[in-house]
Amino acid sequence: MSSELESLAGFEATIFGYLYRWFTPPKPLPQGTHLTNQVAIVTGSNVGIGLASCRQLLKLGLSHLIMGVRSQAKGDEAARELRKEFPTLTISVWIVDMESYDSVRAFADQCATLPRIDIAILNAGLMKSSYTSVPTSSNELTVQVNYLSTSLLAILLLPILKSKKVVGERPPVLSIVGSDLIYRVDIQTKGHILQQFESPKTYDQWLWYARSKLLLTFFTSKIAELVDADDVLINMPNPGTTRGTAFFREFSTPAAKLVDVLQFFFARTLDVAATTYLDAAIARGKESHGSFVSDWAIKPYPPIWYTAEGKEFGERLWEETMQELNFAGASKIIEDMRPRR
Ligand SMILES: NC(=O)c1ccc[n+]([C@@H]2O[C@H](COP(=O)([O-])OP(=O)(O)OC[C@H]3O[C@@H](n4cnc5c(N)ncnc54)[C@H](OP(=O)(O)O)[C@@H]3O)[C@@H](O)[C@H]2O)c1
Repeated sequence: MSSELESLAGFEATIFGYLYRWFTPPKPLPQGTHLTNQVAIVTGSNVGIGLASCRQLLKLGLSHLIMGVRSQAKGDEAARELRKEFPTLTISVWIVDMESYDSVRAFADQCATLPRIDIAILNAGLMKSSYTSVPTSSNELTVQVNYLSTSLLAILLLPILKSKKVVGERPPVLSIVGSDLIYRVDIQTKGHILQQFESPKTYDQWLWYARSKLLLTFFTSKIAELVDADDVLINMPNPGTTRGTAFFREFSTPAAKLVDVLQFFFARTLDVAATTYLDAAIARGKESHGSFVSDWAIKPYPPIWYTAEGKEFGERLWEETMQELNFAGASKIIEDMRPRR
């Protein structure tokens, strides 16, 4: 588990750690892996790593794929291509706009109608070039999509996944996508945590993005403490730097060209990145519960997670997050998920 890997956290935060991750060869799934009769949900799956992971799940014979997307047209177009490749498998396109709590709740309600769910990959995420406030919540957009709405969706899915567990089979897996930028980002640990994102004057797209993923890492480790891995197995795959996605869509043309050149040398292909999701969702067992799963192995949390300051930060973040999400009954859902001994 990541919580036991403190001695390795410092290395991951260095350039050598980055290079080591970059040069790690992909680990194949166990021989004979197939997903016949299984159902998977992937958010943000019309493009990028989400779409590539859908293709790989379907290649393994997944019976029913739910593509959670914010644009019906883009989702339909992506699904049309997949249906050509996999004409006998069921592919549904459902709407989830992670800018809107209402949309997240409606999507979770729709997921509850599925007869079974084996895998849920919360992949939707973004980096925003300029400070943007979400009109309905007043939260900054990056933290809304990457952290708050992703956390809400994770919480709402917990009882649904638990109720869809098939007796005698692996528990449903909830994989919440992270980023290894968490190893290099700093964050203000004093004061109100979520409020520090509401600062247009100091806004920086990379910082806000990396910090939103750092919050998500703390959230994933905490939620896994409160949920039994036999009910829902929760982990955090990191795809690593990946080329061929739409992630840098808001960059200016010269900046995007520079990113393309750098990524040509230092980024994974979509197909390789997608295997990190399948590794976390299919190959990793209970030892990955709450863990950061990167490069086909369980990796440490960032160094701050192991410090007294980090522990206190994590608890305060949890409280603030519950306060933000309690309009949807978040605390009660978590309480009801706690293992009864
Ligand atoms: N690319 C990398 O190097 C890298 C590295 C580490 C981690 N990651 C993480 O991997 C995940 C996938 O990234 P990617 O590189 O594949 O990016 P991408 O190609 O830009 O795909 C992002 C997906 O998220 C969706 N999305 C964005 N905002 C949304 C919203 N408000 N509601 C619903 N869906 C929304 C996008 O939908 P639209 O197409 O409609 O915008 C798209 O489907 C992200 O969580 C990212 O943080 C990426």
